[in-house]
Amino acid sequence: MADKKSARPHIIVLGNQKGGTGKSTTAMHLIASLLHRGFKVGAIDLDARQGTLTRYVQNRRAFVKRKGVALPLPELVAVQASEVSDRKAAEREENERLGETLEGLSACAFVVIDTAGNADHLSRLGHSHADTLITPMNDSFIDLDLLAEIDPETHKVIRPSQYSVMVWEQRKVRAVKDRGTIDWVVSRNRISSIASRNQKRIEGALAELARRIGFRLAPGFGERVIFRELFLNGLTLLDVKDSGEALTMSHVAARQEVRALLDAIGLKAPEEAEAAPTARAPAEVAAYA
Ligand SMILES: Nc1ncnc2c1ncn2[C@@H]1O[C@H](COP(=O)(O)OP(=O)(O)OP(=O)(O)O)[C@@H](O)[C@H]1O
Ligand SMILES: [Mg+2]
Repeated sequence: MADKKSARPHIIVLGNQKGGTGKSTTAMHLIASLLHRGFKVGAIDLDARQGTLTRYVQNRRAFVKRKGVALPLPELVAVQASEVSDRKAAEREENERLGETLEGLSACAFVVIDTAGNADHLSRLGHSHADTLITPMNDSFIDLDLLAEIDPETHKVIRPSQYSVMVWEQRKVRAVKDRGTIDWVVSRNRISSIASRNQKRIEGALAELARRIGFRLAPGFGERVIFRELFLNGLTLLDVKDSGEALTMSHVAARQEVRALLDAIGLKAPEEAEAAPTARAPAEVAAYA
């Protein structure tokens, strides 16, 4: 498929203030999905110190060179955190760095931004640019705690977490900046194939949270070794066929999960997208924001 161009890229941000929930893995799978659909894709690593997304794309470039296969590649930029000691000046510098980076990727149809699992300024800044924010989380009350405080007896929501309030604040920043909205999607990652009571409880709590905090739920990925194995070659499940590797049943099932996530997110090239309705603060969050 030929590259499709648009005036302004649709920006997808992967965020969660907790480490190791699958942000970089999901980012790379979304990038590969969009590339295979024929879009020009930009990738921004805002977690440059750890550099997982950067390494993932570098590994992919090396694989293409080594094997001589034609795999589509994103345009990658790692944005470094400022080293200026004055906080305000450092934040200004980071604003400029990300602004210039986005400007440089303006010919892309989609830009996927990976953020660090903490609340640093670059991560908050990344969130403020999101058209779609994807928060992967694992099936655990520890991960749920990052979205809201849950009553241990009733499993009802007591109050939104700092992260949920931060997302709401970035939604306000976005509305003021360009009247844009952030579509917040939470996806469960590393879901166990064995249904458990814990899983059911998490599902229940998440459904209530979605309504009260203002996000949508999307299907996530199952716990599969293959998600860990592909990194060294910079591959994703969307590339396995083109890369010349054998396709197993597990690959097919996992690839289906990636497609289901993409469909649930409802990503469309900017020129196809209809104007999103203006987001309103769910009462629960507005009270804390
Ligand atoms: N669905 C999955 N099945 C099995 N392993 C997975 C799955 N998703 C992610 N992983 C593994 O979990 C670990 C953490 O994933 P990843 O690096 O994508 O998380 P992260 O949120 O970006 O972490 P950090 O906050 O440290 O940047 C990695 O080893 C990754 O390979
Ligand atoms: Mg990461």
